[in-house]
Amino acid sequence: MMGLTKMRFLLEMLVPALLTGMLASMAEGRTHYYDFVLKESKFTRLCSTKSMMTVHGSFPGPVIRIHRGDMVYVNVHNQDDFGATIHWHGVKQTRNPWSDGPDHITQCRIQPGSNFTYNVIFGEDQEGTLWWHAHSDWTRASVHGAIVILPTEGTTYPFPKPDGEHLLVLASWFKGDLNDEYEEFLSNQTETTVLDDIAFTINGEPGDLVACDGETTHRWLVDYGKTYLLRIVNAVVNSELFFAISEHNLTIVGTDGAYTKPRVTSYIMIAPGQTMDVLITTNQGLSHYYMAARQFATFDPNITEFNNMTATAILQYRGNYAPPDVPSFPTNLPLFHDLDSGLGFLPLLRSLATPEHPVNVPLNITTRMFITASINMVNYTFEGTEVSHLAASLNNITFMDPTSSILLAYYRYWYYIVSLFLCFFDHFLYKLINLVVFEY
Ligand SMILES: *[C@@H]1O[C@H](CO)[C@@H](O)[C@H](O)[C@H]1NC(C)=O
Ligand SMILES: *[C@@H]1O[C@H](CO)[C@@H](O)[C@H](O)[C@H]1NC(C)=O
Ligand SMILES: *[C@@H]1O[C@H](CO)[C@@H](O)[C@H](O)[C@H]1NC(C)=O
Ligand SMILES: *[C@@H]1O[C@H](CO)[C@@H](O)[C@H](O)[C@H]1NC(C)=O
Ligand SMILES: *[C@@H]1O[C@H](CO)[C@@H](O)[C@H](O)[C@H]1NC(C)=O
Ligand SMILES: *[C@@H]1O[C@H](CO)[C@@H](O)[C@H](O)[C@H]1NC(C)=O
Ligand SMILES: *[C@@H]1O[C@H](CO)[C@@H](O)[C@H](O)[C@H]1NC(C)=O
Ligand SMILES: *[C@@H]1O[C@H](CO)[C@@H](O)[C@H](O)[C@H]1NC(C)=O
Repeated sequence: MMGLTKMRFLLEMLVPALLTGMLASMAEGRTHYYDFVLKESKFTRLCSTKSMMTVHGSFPGPVIRIHRGDMVYVNVHNQDDFGATIHWHGVKQTRNPWSDGPDHITQCRIQPGSNFTYNVIFGEDQEGTLWWHAHSDWTRASVHGAIVILPTEGTTYPFPKPDGEHLLVLASWFKGDLNDEYEEFLSNQTETTVLDDIAFTINGEPGDLVACDGETTHRWLVDYGKTYLLRIVNAVVNSELFFAISEHNLTIVGTDGAYTKPRVTSYIMIAPGQTMDVLITTNQGLSHYYMAARQFATFDPNITEFNNMTATAILQYRGNYAPPDVPSFPTNLPLFHDLDSGLGFLPLLRSLATPEHPVNVPLNITTRMFITASINMVNYTFEGTEVSHLAASLNNITFMDPTSSILLAYYRYWYYIVSLFLCFFDHFLYKLINLVVFEY
């Protein structure tokens, strides 16, 4: 626990740091302004038509494309009939929680008919691919898009400049109205109920193995003999996905807005919320090749109740040739229960850590902490009663709506001191303030 003197000292440091931080980020790079319009749009997938919330009627939504060091303002206009917020996933937003987006935590929902402007402040070192998504109930399933951060103008990638690049956004497809399904899920929630998507999509399309007649499959047209940078976003609501391209290796070069050591692999595993940048060289015979994604569900082969649909898209070489009746399928795409392939992939992700792209982590470890992240039954007091509920937790401590405003606690000196004092009496609130104030 931190002494008051040290707190005061930190706080006095905080205000000038905040100002310099803002000035610094204003001085370098360009500023981009976007308008996002939230509205309902109709889509037909798996032979049925439904309406869902999108930005500008597009699924996936628009791409924010900037250079490292740039700053972004996004004015979100809500023309939907449901309130929502937007989160800038992975963007560091240093000392800028006002624009972070989780509803009921750092802001109220943007109500239908109103608008809200976000100031998206990237970390100075962030370069690669990130993404944005709605952050109210499960609106993120249909309201999301990629953020591409190119090298600062006048600099280049830490690998030979690719001949071209392409984006793939992987997402969930739910059968019915997502809000209805979500409400039903909440009201029926038990230890075993899950709200499962019924298919996955690649750039909005579930692909040939799933789609009904007349529905399309995403195609990526490439030239022979080139190297492309492929940016992959896993915007799926809950599942880790395996992804592979038939007869083409992938060289991993980045993840989550940072570069990694180049590693060659025949498949990747990408977690929900994660992004991955890979290079592919188009040196195979002129043809059509499937790109495919399916989930790593569980190591337990006895569990079979999950979304087992494989999403596909097509990598298509340009040129004059007779296309195959059916594109070849990636033989190295692991199956749903393949734990070894899941675990075997993880060691391939290593920070680049060069002088140009340093990674500052403590090398001299003096304290070891044991932290459990779990989803289990957690006991807590709700409106005066002890309840036991399925919840995500760290060391069995789960998030509870605080009784005081988190942003005020962050922002106002006296409010902050009083809140801190209260913390001595309120274990959880203490942890929360500790997190909010000292982690930013
Ligand atoms: C955005 O909302 C503000 C009020 O918060 C309003 O004054 C303004 O006209 C709105 N702008 C647009 C373009 O709707
Ligand atoms: C709960 O689930 C059952 C079926 O599992 C369904 O019939 C019922 O309508 C659900 N209840 C609510 C309140 O949605
Ligand atoms: C993919 O990489 C493996 C291992 O490096 C190699 O043996 C194989 O030939 C490569 N395949 C292609 C199509 O480049
Ligand atoms: C799967 O079920 C079989 C037969 O009931 C059992 O022997 C096996 O231990 C189960 N596997 C797991 C991982 O629980
Ligand atoms: C997918 O799951 C369904 C229902 O559990 C099952 O009938 C089907 O055989 C499964 N398909 C695959 C490819 O595992
Ligand atoms: C690591 O930290 C300990 C404790 O602060 C210190 O005694 C030691 O000299 C440090 N070692 C190095 C290599 O910095
Ligand atoms: C949680 O509460 C349940 C009753 O609701 C009780 O049986 C259980 O022992 C409690 N667990 C802990 C760790 O306190
Ligand atoms: C969390 O609570 C469970 C009992 O509900 C207990 O078995 C477990 O050890 C606790 N874990 C931690 C990290 O405190």
